[in-house]
Amino acid sequence: MTASLCRLDNQWTPDGDENGQLELTLTNLGGAALSGFRLVYTALTRNLDRSMVRNATLVRRNANYHEYEPPQGLVLQPGESWTFVVRALTRKPSHITDGVSTAYLILSDGTSHDIETGDLMLKGHVAKRPPVLVPEGRLEEPVGIIPWPGVTDLDGFGEAPIALFPAPGSPVQAIAAMNEVGALARRLFPNAISVFALTGVAGGLSVQFSTSDDLPSEGYRLDFAEDGVRLASGGAAGLSYALTTLAQMHHAAYAQPETFRFPKSGLISDAPRYEWRGCHLDVSRQVYSLQSVRRFIDILAWNKMNVLHWHLSDDEGWRLEIKALPELTRTGARRGPGEKMTAQLGSGARPSEGFYTQDEVRELIQDAARLHVGIMPEFDIPGHCTAVLAAYPHLIDPEESVGNYHSVQGYENNALNPAMDETYDLLEKVFREVADLFPFPFIHVGGDEVADGSWLGSPKARELMKSRHLSGTPELQAHLLKKVQAILSGFGKKLAGWDEVSHGGGVEPDGALLMAWQKPEIGLDLARMGYDVVMTPGQAYYLDMAQAHEWLEPGLTWAGVVPPQHCYEYEAAGDFPAELADRLKGVQGCIWSENLVSRQRFNHMVFPRLGAIAEAAWTPMPRKNWQRFCAQSRLMPEL
Ligand code: ACM
Repeated sequence: MTASLCRLDNQWTPDGDENGQLELTLTNLGGAALSGFRLVYTALTRNLDRSMVRNATLVRRNANYHEYEPPQGLVLQPGESWTFVVRALTRKPSHITDGVSTAYLILSDGTSHDIETGDLMLKGHVAKRPPVLVPEGRLEEPVGIIPWPGVTDLDGFGEAPIALFPAPGSPVQAIAAMNEVGALARRLFPNAISVFALTGVAGGLSVQFSTSDDLPSEGYRLDFAEDGVRLASGGAAGLSYALTTLAQMHHAAYAQPETFRFPKSGLISDAPRYEWRGCHLDVSRQVYSLQSVRRFIDILAWNKMNVLHWHLSDDEGWRLEIKALPELTRTGARRGPGEKMTAQLGSGARPSEGFYTQDEVRELIQDAARLHVGIMPEFDIPGHCTAVLAAYPHLIDPEESVGNYHSVQGYENNALNPAMDETYDLLEKVFREVADLFPFPFIHVGGDEVADGSWLGSPKARELMKSRHLSGTPELQAHLLKKVQAILSGFGKKLAGWDEVSHGGGVEPDGALLMAWQKPEIGLDLARMGYDVVMTPGQAYYLDMAQAHEWLEPGLTWAGVVPPQHCYEYEAAGDFPAELADRLKGVQGCIWSENLVSRQRFNHMVFPRLGAIAEAAWTPMPRKNWQRFCAQSRLMPEL
């Protein structure tokens, strides 16, 4: 590790203009004077107006990337600081994470060097500390299971067996499933004793397997007795979930024997509330190693969640190898100095790069399937396509005016043009390979946050509007998405998307699945329009939202704050009338990664809220209990 050449501090004060002002101070920590340099930082709170900067010049901004020049002739001697003030901000910061994320210097010789930075501090006010987010909790029954089962009728508890093993004559599928769940437990808790053994063990407990047509395919029943456990399951998933329940109780009883026990008699009867129990993971804003994604899938399986919604593309990066379109990853998976895409949140002077090869993904899909987790890929179109357009600029209408629209994240002209044949040519190539690779029945095509006014400066789009009588951006978007739906259908796939897919006339509802993210009421609107719905409202299920109002708690707030208790207690089914209830396919958490710049930050934001969503997806409402969940949630694995 090399010593940081400089340090960039940032402070915000509500004084001054509408959104207050940001004060940045660069301190020279090196042994030599600095001059002729530029300062780069990335920050979610952007500078709106280059004329509103005091004591520096903003020479370039690209979304969250800001590049400044110090006043002419500035020489920063060792130990000296230079302060400048940004007075026109896109938003009012409310948390430590709303300021500088990464920073680097471009020296006069053109080389770039990361520098240290810190949280956004409040100037002139004492920042508030967050409250306790997850209390100790209180158990009603001394067993550790998340999500909590539909029925527990347990009337005797004792020490956990040394290990559980299959009764003699058990079917090979059951033994293999036991091995699979045992391997999952060992990966998640490498220091815990093995839950399962395949041969009889002194001090162990046998498991007698059966199948039952009376149980749903994901359902199971466990009957406990001194001489063994009887396990009945409806299908392969139910069998796996039954074993996961046994493994969780065994783990809890060994991890905290003073609190958790293992059942000696009684029963557990269980099946999920919803068929869709998902979590989305944005691997575009930050690059996640394959190993981390694999562990995340393990965590989903441990929570009995069954869908990874894998957000593989966004403005900040394209993360899947497409063999017919190598530039998507050669250019679109890299950002940093000297690259076509600039640094963004979480990346600095060193190029940030990374994508998954199709071979890697194929193996991941197989591993996930053994854990009953399906992987739905998302390629976010037509908006959020800066990386695609950087890779293939011929997709841009050459006569389109530059900078006539900006996404909410500050990207300029970032949407695939519905009037360009090249758009459909690219999408057909992408989806051909994606459909071949992913067995999941849906491909998610995004459809969110296309900026107002998109394409209106494109003569080609204007022509299309005229010839097809399309009135504006939403109808242009619907025109594109309908064509995409037909492309997907040709490859045997159904379309999934964010709620804006319904705008401008939408796509054909039959077979389409939309995710209500902007607010809960939208879920109901979508169902009324005939779409199947997964509820992912930001106000309850966005795990990038801050967990408390206090300044020192990290996270975003556009959807308010989402304390773990609210995440747990929120009921997606709330407003769905009986006649629309079967349109509600389930619930899903969303992990957007702008602020998730370290594993520790990821864990702080995601857990235990992920388990709260898992329980909302699985456990019947009257069986939910916040205090019980809290007492159990500390046993759950983190990334
Ligand atoms: C979204 O959060 N833009 C779906």
